[in-house]
Amino acid sequence: MTQRWGTRVGLILAMAGNAVGLGNFLRFPAQAIQNGGGAFIIPYLVSFVVMGVPLLWVEWAIGRHGGQFGHHSTPGMFDRLGSSHWLKYIGVFGLFTNLCIASYYVYIESWALAYVWHSLMGTFGHIEASVFFSHYIGTAPGGLAAWPAEAIFWFLLTLVMNTWILSRGLTRGIEAAARIGMPLLIMFAIILVIRGLLLGPGDLHVVESPLAGLNFIWQPRTAGFLNPSTWLAAAGQIFFTLSLGMGSIHCYASYLREQDDIALNAASAGWLNEFVEVVLGGSLIIPISTAYLGLAAVTAATSSGSGFTLGFLTLPMLFGNWGWFAPLAGAMWFGLLFFAGVTSSLAMGQPIVTFLEDEFGLRSARASQTFGLAAAGLGLFCVVFYPSGAFDEFDFWAGTFSLVIFALAEAFVFSWIFPLETGWAEINRGAQLKIPHIFRVLIGYITPAFLLVIFLGAVFKPSREWPTAFASLLEGHGWGLSPDSVLGRVMHAGEAHYVWFNVQGMPTRDFIIDMTRVLLTLVFVGFALLVRIAWKRRSTNP
Ligand code: PHE
Repeated sequence: MTQRWGTRVGLILAMAGNAVGLGNFLRFPAQAIQNGGGAFIIPYLVSFVVMGVPLLWVEWAIGRHGGQFGHHSTPGMFDRLGSSHWLKYIGVFGLFTNLCIASYYVYIESWALAYVWHSLMGTFGHIEASVFFSHYIGTAPGGLAAWPAEAIFWFLLTLVMNTWILSRGLTRGIEAAARIGMPLLIMFAIILVIRGLLLGPGDLHVVESPLAGLNFIWQPRTAGFLNPSTWLAAAGQIFFTLSLGMGSIHCYASYLREQDDIALNAASAGWLNEFVEVVLGGSLIIPISTAYLGLAAVTAATSSGSGFTLGFLTLPMLFGNWGWFAPLAGAMWFGLLFFAGVTSSLAMGQPIVTFLEDEFGLRSARASQTFGLAAAGLGLFCVVFYPSGAFDEFDFWAGTFSLVIFALAEAFVFSWIFPLETGWAEINRGAQLKIPHIFRVLIGYITPAFLLVIFLGAVFKPSREWPTAFASLLEGHGWGLSPDSVLGRVMHAGEAHYVWFNVQGMPTRDFIIDMTRVLLTLVFVGFALLVRIAWKRRSTNP
């Protein structure tokens, strides 16, 4: 029996829950600070309009279209966009990214759950937060692997919860979770934002106005605004936060009926995500930590670390200043991260679950458990090799670069193979919002071109500023790849001693990084084989 969304509110909350995640509260503020505050916001908003919104409509349209043929995961959907046999293999990205992101994403989600518990228990009152954190995830100086028993317990518990919700089906599982989680997390965020912005000179230990933090990200700045690295970061954030290029929006949209509106629903869910990201996500960790630590210290801490540092180390410590409210503030902050995380990880799980159901005939409980086991296996790899950077490898290849490749391919297929006339009609069927015609031009030409530039930028990002790199190239001195460009990573650029085994014959960090890449490749190839098998079976017994 085909599943459908229960109500329109439920659909929008589920889609917004898909998009609203850890990215909104941890990644966005960190990216904004690292990329020069106000200089980041303009490229961010431009990327939202030029790339984010058009891709949202494209992905909803591909999803609803595929759903009419009984396909709820991307291989089947892409197969229906044209007659070539290879189209379905583009859809493999929509399985690969979801499973791999889920594996490390649920781990962070489980930190949030554990931290709710520890906030209520008052654990942070006794131990230095940074000591607690490194103890919790089991990092030791110089260590390459960890076995953090407590963290593994919370991780598996969180995965079991996800699996259980998924096995309840669309309306009783995902939709119900979004109806509970979304309002709660928005409420918690509003309370914390208000409390944070009210901090003033009268409060103990406050060194600067929280508004200085807001000014830093909101005052438009032209310096650095033309820097391609800022654009890359801004576009990357738009991808991650809207869950674009992942196959999970397609999946949710495939449960719509043929005549259901896409135009207005997609825009509403997208705007809700932006509200939660820029208004709530932007007004939480930055102003609160600015008030207690000063803007200079906050920017310094963030440029070396990630959103995790502020979110999991700094905030629990700062909440300690809030007296009786401290445990509640901690529980609300980590509670909202947890709800934001769950409604997103369900969106990563559903495409895998439905792939196993649709293409292999698994029952929903069995399909959910299979997803849970696969995510547990890959996730434990990330947990154990977290100190070696396995986690970051997953995040880069599956959580950043794959999204761009998939989105580039889908923009091209949608506009040139489907082709655009059919696609535009598909987007507008049943539309309750008149989409300005300019978006047709954007979808057909500008968005794909923009994606191509982002793709090339990520592959060839230089080690110096872009203008310097071009000048050096023209003078015949070469380009110089950045270690975090795609090519730079593959070639281990910038590493003095690249070896797999040290003099004692023990594996090195480089070895673990390369094995992580092998593992990711195997996952991709594995999914491609599954797709092949499924279609073989389909053609022999239709
Ligand atoms: N958009 C989510 C966030 O901001 C992440 C996500 C990735 C959700 C992939 C679904 C699928 O955290």
